[in-house]
Amino acid sequence: MAFADYIPMLLRPSILLFMSIKHFILTMFEIVFQERQPSKLLNLTDLRFRSFARLWAANGEAMSVEMPGPLNSLLSQCSGLVLDIGPGSGEMLSRFNPKRIKAIYGAEPAVDLHPGLVRNATKAGFGGKYHALLCGGEPESLIPALAKSGVLGGNGATGGTADDGIFDEICCVRVLCGVPTPRETVKGLYKLLKPGGRMVVCEHVVNPWRTEGRVLARVVQLVYTLLGWPFFMGGCELQRHTEVFLREAGEWEEFKLAYVDPQHAVPFIVGELKKAGALKVSEGGARSLR
Ligand SMILES: C[S@@+](CC[C@H](N)C(=O)[O-])C[C@H]1O[C@@H](n2cnc3c(N)ncnc32)[C@H](O)[C@@H]1O
Repeated sequence: MAFADYIPMLLRPSILLFMSIKHFILTMFEIVFQERQPSKLLNLTDLRFRSFARLWAANGEAMSVEMPGPLNSLLSQCSGLVLDIGPGSGEMLSRFNPKRIKAIYGAEPAVDLHPGLVRNATKAGFGGKYHALLCGGEPESLIPALAKSGVLGGNGATGGTADDGIFDEICCVRVLCGVPTPRETVKGLYKLLKPGGRMVVCEHVVNPWRTEGRVLARVVQLVYTLLGWPFFMGGCELQRHTEVFLREAGEWEEFKLAYVDPQHAVPFIVGELKKAGALKVSEGGARSLR
């Protein structure tokens, strides 16, 4: 790629950064002048979540028209009991095939995005099969919410425990960049996956400058970070080693991830992973662990 084309590409994320700063300021105005509750500004975590939800509600749809790599096809193959981490306002739901899915649980901590999520679940044809949970993907938030919903533990639909693995599929789309403890979160998700279960991944990550990436793009990631990207973008980090966290989470039978746009400031890894340990039925009918 010519250098003259490359520079605008590196600058493109700055538009999103400016938009997030605008929504942060507008959220503060809403709190002070409309709600007249300035003390709410002191809760910085809530303020940042709320302003990101505002940004996403206004732009999430437009930012979801084209998704990287084979994501649409990977999501359309999801089946059985599915866990979707951070579904936002459900912009990805139209990519799933509801006929293949028994039930889908969406772990979304931003309460302001839930009305859109429920609306999009209905629009995509999930009906009563969609369960929106008000929680994050980190185990300390997710496990109690799953238990409360009945899908986990003795009183649930499956009766499994977090350590046995209960989900056939877990989807992480543009979310692991923003979870507060990515390593622990990914480990927790690995446990929740049934042996042989599939994880669909579409995440932006640290630029792979040592291999397929570019040093300049890696430097630009650092600059955006210093300009406040994680602060204004609801905790989203540009420099995450998500592939390493996924690889170290446990034993995988298949680990198929490929970079999309590795030379960009926001390169993605997209693909599917299959958890090891599925029961294999031998010719004689005996079952063994792979
Ligand atoms: C960039 S949006 C992506 C939404 C959706 N996955 C998509 O691709 O259309 C990131 C989402 O992750 C959610 N999120 C933030 N922190 C989270 C956490 N700790 N656990 C789960 N989701 C989280 C945000 O509220 C937001 O809805």
